Amino acid sequence: LDSKVFANQLINWYEENKRDLPWRKTKDPYPIWLSEIILQQTRVAQGLPYYERFIEQFPTIYELANASETEVLRLWQGLGYYSRARNLHACAKMVVNDFGGEFPSEFDELLKLKGIGRYTAAAISSSAFNQPNAVVDGNVYRVLSRVFGMEEDISSTQGPKVFEIRANELLDKERPNQYNQAIMEFGAIQCSPKSPACGVCPFKDDCFAFNHNKIEVLPVKTKK
Ligand code: ADE
Repeated sequence: LDSKVFANQLINWYEENKRDLPWRKTKDPYPIWLSEIILQQTRVAQGLPYYERFIEQFPTIYELANASETEVLRLWQGLGYYSRARNLHACAKMVVNDFGGEFPSEFDELLKLKGIGRYTAAAISSSAFNQPNAVVDGNVYRVLSRVFGMEEDISSTQGPKVFEIRANELLDKERPNQYNQAIMEFGAIQCSPKSPACGVCPFKDDCFAFNHNKIEVLPVKTKK
């Protein structure tokens, strides 16, 4: 399956099937960053009300940076993984104090911020600044391993790097934001972990896993 064809079909699928989510309507890195931190270990249905409350309470990164940690943790109550909330607050302070309130646009600069790893740096740089960085998360491992028959172990040392390289080759460099949103959405609602909707999948003729009966075993993950 050709990269260009894959990207075009994926984005076409996305335009037909995407959910209407508030952080997809903006180019402002603040709400994009906030949504990605909230959604890291949390489903959209659970995270959405938290996102709405954070935006209401802290409309810009300045209000968040100036809040007390107690206030931030109180608003985070129920989401779990409280280090995410502490990093969120620390990151807001870094952006305000070290970057004049503006998120940097480069992947490598974003990586230096508290709580921002490779996934979040790619999400922000592509969605807010149109930079050609592919996101790699559990959804991406699942879609690429199944469609392209990538059988590298995602729990091995080299696995994630192999996927990141392939993900960046497949990325639509003219539309990095749409492409990234599309592959995450496709992994979340079509190419799901259990009972994916292969019958109506645009890639079923080309999908390695579908054609080799390997939906259940891909992606390969040997260690917890
Ligand atoms: N999960 C993580 N990031 C997401 C996004 N941008 N849209 C929907 N679900 C997500």
